[in-house]
Amino acid sequence: MSIETLETSQASIKSTSAQFDNTSFDKAVMSTYGRYALALERGQGCRVWDTQGREYLDFVAGIATCTLGHAHPAMVEAVTRQIQKLHHVSNLYYIPEQGELAKWLVKHSCADRVFFCNSGAEANEAAIKLARKYAHTVLKIDRPIILTAQSSFHGRTLATITATAQPKYQKHFDPLVPGFHYVPYNDISAIESAIGELDEGDYGVAAILIEPLQGEGGVRPGDVSYFRKLRQICNETGVLLIFDEVQVGMGRSGKLWGYEHLGVEPDIFTSAKGLGGGIPIGAMLAKKFCDVFQAGEHASTYGGNPFVTGVALSVCETIEKENILSNVQARGEQLRAGLKQIAAKYPQLISDVRGWGLINGMELHENIELTSNDIVNAAIQEGLLLVPAGPKVVRFVPPLIVTEAEINQALAKLESAIAKLN
Ligand SMILES: Cc1ncc(COP(=O)(O)O)c(C=O)c1O
Repeated sequence: MSIETLETSQASIKSTSAQFDNTSFDKAVMSTYGRYALALERGQGCRVWDTQGREYLDFVAGIATCTLGHAHPAMVEAVTRQIQKLHHVSNLYYIPEQGELAKWLVKHSCADRVFFCNSGAEANEAAIKLARKYAHTVLKIDRPIILTAQSSFHGRTLATITATAQPKYQKHFDPLVPGFHYVPYNDISAIESAIGELDEGDYGVAAILIEPLQGEGGVRPGDVSYFRKLRQICNETGVLLIFDEVQVGMGRSGKLWGYEHLGVEPDIFTSAKGLGGGIPIGAMLAKKFCDVFQAGEHASTYGGNPFVTGVALSVCETIEKENILSNVQARGEQLRAGLKQIAAKYPQLISDVRGWGLINGMELHENIELTSNDIVNAAIQEGLLLVPAGPKVVRFVPPLIVTEAEINQALAKLESAIAKLN
């Protein structure tokens, strides 16, 4: 389908033009999310429309997920093709689309093989299981420990909230899963002492699970020197180095993988979010030496089915064909420069602007009342969608196809929102 045809068919979709009934929604749907009073029903590129036809610039992109924006012709074509051809069969059989996507990922990363699942948490679960099996069978550790970083985020299953070293995600869900130990991020001496202290009796450090850039934890990039030293320690001790690339990977950082910014390769890494451009897919990728799973040891009914892998492959090929990484780099620089100008105008409110490519954070001073959520609410009034990364950091994660003009529009809307709040 051409862009023109798609735009015509999109334009013919009328908004409901009615006030959305949140009350009946809230009665039927569990209250696991703090929702903004906004019901979205249509999207095109970097824009979305609510049920009353109001337009928003979408700098959330399903939280760093809709790589190609909304209703991208390549995705519309792939979804249509795949649903007509074959959407689901079991992994009891070979799935050609799954093989093609795995080959693309292997060709474009340091990994040798891929396991497919449905989400970031599930990909991290797979990595945790693989690391534990490697510890038992290769490292000969009876009680393996995985080190994770404070302020990290790795998902919402029991093992991944345990890996997530933030008490707010763990409260009331104990007993947690044993075998995790937390260290401060970007602090190499903490890693060295943890490895030394925890290697006792049956216990031993099997792996370090870490984000190249902490996303939910406040858009905090990893230090190059810290990650190089991590790699060196892992080489010397045999501890596995696992990177969670769920948010920062698949081109969001301006390079395909976050680890490319750090000059080190992981032994295992996970991907989800941007990999499918908005369809649910996750992946755990590993180097050959630690790929110790045997048939029957791990599985997922939907994992890597023809529908998701066919669509994700078209997302990957579009990123490559349309040279989207160079857009991410240019637009990221433009966005950070604009945010820094706004920060310079409001030094009493904004303390820092940081990020890689199109994952950026604007941090507010700790000692003021204003929160990231206040900014997000004010931006919604201006027609701009943003998402907090903690109470003091506003996150900007637009689709990777965002244009120069859209970045300028978003900056103008943000500035107007801040001016009103101020
Ligand atoms: C770094 C990281 N890992 C894992 C996850 C969990 O992914 P999912 O929500 O797809 O389970 C997220 C989600 O925000 C994430 O940012």
